[in-house]
Amino acid sequence: MDLIAELNKNPFVLAPMAGITDKPFRTLMRKYHCGPVITELVSSNGLKYNSEKTVKLMQFDKIQHPIGIQIFGERLDALAEAAKYVEDMGADFVDLNFGCPVKKVVSKGAGSAVLKDLDQLTKVLRATKGAVKIPVTIKVRTGWDAETRNSVEVAQVAYDEGITWMGIHGRTRAQAYNGKADWDYIAEVKSKSKIPILGNGDITSPQLANQRLKESGCDGVMIGRGCLKNPWIFRESMNLYQDKELSVVRNFMDLFKEMEEEFYSFHDERVAGLQMKKFAAWYSAGYPGAAKFRKTIFQTKDPKEVRPRIVDYFEEISHIVQEDTSSEPFLMGGHG
Ligand SMILES: Cc1cc2nc3c(=O)[nH]c(=O)nc-3n(C[C@H](O)[C@H](O)[C@H](O)COP(=O)(O)O)c2cc1C
Repeated sequence: MDLIAELNKNPFVLAPMAGITDKPFRTLMRKYHCGPVITELVSSNGLKYNSEKTVKLMQFDKIQHPIGIQIFGERLDALAEAAKYVEDMGADFVDLNFGCPVKKVVSKGAGSAVLKDLDQLTKVLRATKGAVKIPVTIKVRTGWDAETRNSVEVAQVAYDEGITWMGIHGRTRAQAYNGKADWDYIAEVKSKSKIPILGNGDITSPQLANQRLKESGCDGVMIGRGCLKNPWIFRESMNLYQDKELSVVRNFMDLFKEMEEEFYSFHDERVAGLQMKKFAAWYSAGYPGAAKFRKTIFQTKDPKEVRPRIVDYFEEISHIVQEDTSSEPFLMGGHG
């Protein structure tokens, strides 16, 4: 598969999010017109022991192509083996996580810690790339901290090692999720790099998705949290991109029906129910009575009551235009 050709067709990539971009959600977002999708980070060490939980994170179905499986780790042999496993599963690309800021990961020299050591970066890229024929991509932060931002150097190493694209979350590791993603820096990296660049961070609307893409000159953008408040963001972004009418009909009833089908066929009843509640709570952002609805839905213990409560609320607000809540803090933690 020509991954860059796929990106050119649809440059709005679903960003990897642990606990969120599982198989059902990736399928849903593909049906809702996102570009390539990436799994959450998967431990290459965990995979070595073939942990059932780890393997479940990597599952995908046909509609998800092009699908990348994201791996992380510090041991070169385990990374190479994990990459091979990804290829054998039929995934389209291997994505390497160099953005995870979490202590447990960086203390072992994985995730964003790799950005501090370009020799180690080269070794990791070489070991992974050498193990597979499918494309290898990377996802980074702008650097370890403000004093050591080094995405231009990282991009050069990645280009030299034959990596297909570099996704860049516009914050340093030290920033965690504070401050704003630095799109001026992303644009600078893009202008100085030979490798295709995917910009990422704080894209909360289809207008912003297109504006960031155009102004940064990036080859694509990754959208994470933005699709948790507006699941139509990819479709709307594509509409704008293709000079079509922006708005789509926001049919919440169809959305929840599709979600239910996906979640309940993959997860056990308890987890599927939790996912339904979680997503319904996120999707209510910016609509009247959202805080009260969130409280009600999380207090609902009887699984049979979840659906009627969701239907009641979303039927009532379905004709109302969603307010912009992007200035409110939202999910300020993750693995990249
Ligand atoms: C809950 C959560 C989990 C995340 N998990 C991952 C992950 O597994 N791998 C990764 O590279 N990035 C992960 N990220 C980072 C996102 O991919 C993205 O870089 C970040 O959220 C900024 O983009 P956004 O503002 O569009 O959300 C995670 C983010 C969140 C909020």
